[in-house]
Amino acid sequence: MTREECEALDAVDPLAGFRKEFTLPEGVIYLDGNSLGALPAGTPARVREVVEAEWGRELIRSWNDAGWFEQPYRLGRRIAPLIGAGPEEVVVCDTTSVNLFKLLTAALRLRPGRRTVLGDGAAFPTDLYIAEGVTGLFEGARSVLLPSVTTEELERHLGEDVAAVVLSHVDYRTGELLDMAAITEQVQRAGALMIWDVCHSVGALPVELGACGADLAVGCTYKYLNGGPGSPAFLYVAERHQAAAEQPLSGWFGHARPFAFEPGYAPTAGVGRFMTSSPSLLGQAALGASLDVWERADLRAVRAKSLALTDLFISLVEPLGLEVATPLEHARRGSQVALRHPDGYPVVQALIERGVIGDFRAPDLMRFGFTPLYLSHTEVWDAARELAQVLESGEWRAPRFSRRGAVT
Ligand SMILES: Cc1ncc(COP(=O)(O)O)c(C=O)c1O
Repeated sequence: MTREECEALDAVDPLAGFRKEFTLPEGVIYLDGNSLGALPAGTPARVREVVEAEWGRELIRSWNDAGWFEQPYRLGRRIAPLIGAGPEEVVVCDTTSVNLFKLLTAALRLRPGRRTVLGDGAAFPTDLYIAEGVTGLFEGARSVLLPSVTTEELERHLGEDVAAVVLSHVDYRTGELLDMAAITEQVQRAGALMIWDVCHSVGALPVELGACGADLAVGCTYKYLNGGPGSPAFLYVAERHQAAAEQPLSGWFGHARPFAFEPGYAPTAGVGRFMTSSPSLLGQAALGASLDVWERADLRAVRAKSLALTDLFISLVEPLGLEVATPLEHARRGSQVALRHPDGYPVVQALIERGVIGDFRAPDLMRFGFTPLYLSHTEVWDAARELAQVLESGEWRAPRFSRRGAVT
């Protein structure tokens, strides 16, 4: 495809209007929205309003008057349509890791005769660390890692002792998308509970937790949802599990009557029992501003453009001789493209110096995220050209590109 053809696609792109709703620096092509989403244009004013008016002027009255107390539920109801959940099945609180800790513990308690948690050995490690931590708290429990996530491997490991299976809907390294419906069905047929980590799929494609019959799920809001660095996470508990689910971090925000200040813990009804502490209102304010944008986005259009952008990028970089680690099949692809290169780290650094921001995941993956709300076909074309020039020129060999920061 030529650059002119990309421009023609941009001219008829139904999502093109969303670009002006984000603040991106001049001269930057941002291909890292799968790690930290861009800044929505409305976020600074919204956060300022909460700081200056709700906090600064109204002070503690805002817990009631500005709806702070209800905010975790309100945001949960706004995220629900993005993940195919019912309005009373999602709450915004804490972080992905903390929420997984709570859900996994609840899952083991919901399956008292079973003591094994299955995970993907290649999963984002925090999920595995949390599984280790949780199983360490239950006598006889263990965390078992699948060598790969296939129907056969699942079948081999789904014994009568498996209480829960935790999987990422989209793999953080390769961008592989799993079949949520089929896997959920297979896991539940074996009597286990299915917990999905949707960090890399929420906002990237339509997620159908409800239609797939998922039991539990966690997700973050700082990637495709653009909630801001360290923005609060969310958790999903299918309505059918809520009454019996018991979580371990039994703080006052999950209590049925937090302002009765009773000495004993009594969980509130519904998904709110999975809350623990006072919500981080400033982070939630930023998330609210980004959800204003998402409210107007059609997820089917997002998915269609995401596939068009990733197809385009793959077609442009394949001639460079790079191995594409991301599945080519649409049904198995999220919204990122991962390319293997033994010197991926300095190559990405050289690209960043040219204004094309991607990232690197050890040992050899260059990751490029495609965010349909603020990325154009022409930018993807330009990014591929810059990558070709970085490789052809060998400029990435300059020693400065090999110096590693704490975050890669
Ligand atoms: C799949 C996945 N799960 C969990 C996390 C970490 O979540 P948190 O830092 O909010 O605990 C990440 C972070 O990138 C992730 O990619």
